[in-house]
Amino acid sequence: MQLLYELDEEKTLFRKSVRDFSEQVIRPQTDHMWETGEFPYDIVRRMGELGIMGIPFPEEYGGAGGDYLAYAIAVEEIARVDGSCAITVEAHTSLGAGAFYYYGTEEQKQEWLVPLAQGKILGSFGLTEPEAGSDAGNTQTKAELADGEWVINGTKCFITNPGTEMSGVVTVTVVTGVREDGRKEISNIYVPKGTPGYNIAPKYKKMGWHASDTRELNFEDCRVPEGNLIGKRGEGFKQFMDCLDGGRIAIAALSVGNAQGAFEESLKYAKERVQFKQLIGKFQAIQFKLADMATDIEIARDITYKAAAMRDAHVPHTKEAAMAKLFASEMCMRTTTQAVQVFGGYGFMDEYPVSRFFRDAKILEIGEGTSEVQRMVIARELGLK
Ligand code: CAA
Repeated sequence: MQLLYELDEEKTLFRKSVRDFSEQVIRPQTDHMWETGEFPYDIVRRMGELGIMGIPFPEEYGGAGGDYLAYAIAVEEIARVDGSCAITVEAHTSLGAGAFYYYGTEEQKQEWLVPLAQGKILGSFGLTEPEAGSDAGNTQTKAELADGEWVINGTKCFITNPGTEMSGVVTVTVVTGVREDGRKEISNIYVPKGTPGYNIAPKYKKMGWHASDTRELNFEDCRVPEGNLIGKRGEGFKQFMDCLDGGRIAIAALSVGNAQGAFEESLKYAKERVQFKQLIGKFQAIQFKLADMATDIEIARDITYKAAAMRDAHVPHTKEAAMAKLFASEMCMRTTTQAVQVFGGYGFMDEYPVSRFFRDAKILEIGEGTSEVQRMVIARELGLK
């Protein structure tokens, strides 16, 4: 029997290839991205050429024909070096392209999934709204059918990838009616960039992930063809929750990578920094921090890979995805906090990577479902609804 934590040769080589790319291509640009917030077009284009923008999709749809575990490994390796690049890949793959892959018609897949998976365009998914954050079912954005077109009105916030030169399409959750049980009927509709009435606000200024593209979107009598509905009318919430199960595994992988990057910096520093006439790594206080960090990361990686393997096996994994996301993101916050502590005052300085890893960590406990939402999901899966 193959043990989960023993990656086969193919996956081990794949991890090495993404690590090499991250070290050689991404690492030299991390200072620039952090300081300027400029979107890394050259990196994203090169990732497209290498198949990194469509890892879990079949080759017939422009993807790399890999599985979800391979995708999680890639996100982890990219996050080990840079969070902005990692979230760009993650939101594009799990949410932007995922909506077309899991629920699109053959025609929609040919038109949109192929260029998305090839990395020729970037995809986004708009669920969150000013009044619908954790309470995602409280979507206010509406779409009404008129003369064979959906007319969309509303606002989405905190959306990743919509405003770059490469952005091609956003899929939004919209209220299309009222269900028999009185709840909102929520559907998914895609809107190509450039559609009149689809307005994209300037980039937010953020605590971390400086170079990723995050914006508010506004729809003002925005008309798209009736055929832009993705999947069945009224199943949009379920579809998005399923995409989010996958997204949460990828955020867990991003957390593992971010924590690993911070840990490696701290370990190296502990072997260089001298205080009280000896290397700080000789003090038990520092050794214990590093031992705890290494242990925490290992556990988070295992639960993340387990959830990814379950998604690949097409077995229910809502609970495991939530557990992986919850544990890994909180682990990442703990680890990066300790990484800054190991560096002392230097860790508070912007030019030290641990300071960036720390700032990038906080959003991992919030995006794609807060820690509190993950606990709700886990409790419900335990039969406590
Ligand atoms: N897979 C498939 N279907 C699911 C599901 C899952 N994991 N979870 C729930 N559903 C279905 C339910 O079966 C139910 O179906 P019916 O209506 O047919 O009964 C429907 O979805 C509604 O489920 P609930 O009644 O459980 O919904 P709820 O209103 O109680 O909310 C919640 C549940 C867990 C709190 C959910 O709202 C949630 O996850 N909130 C957090 C949202 C979130 O993660 N937001 C971040 C998005 S990221 C973003 O938008 C930014 C970006 O750039 C992408």
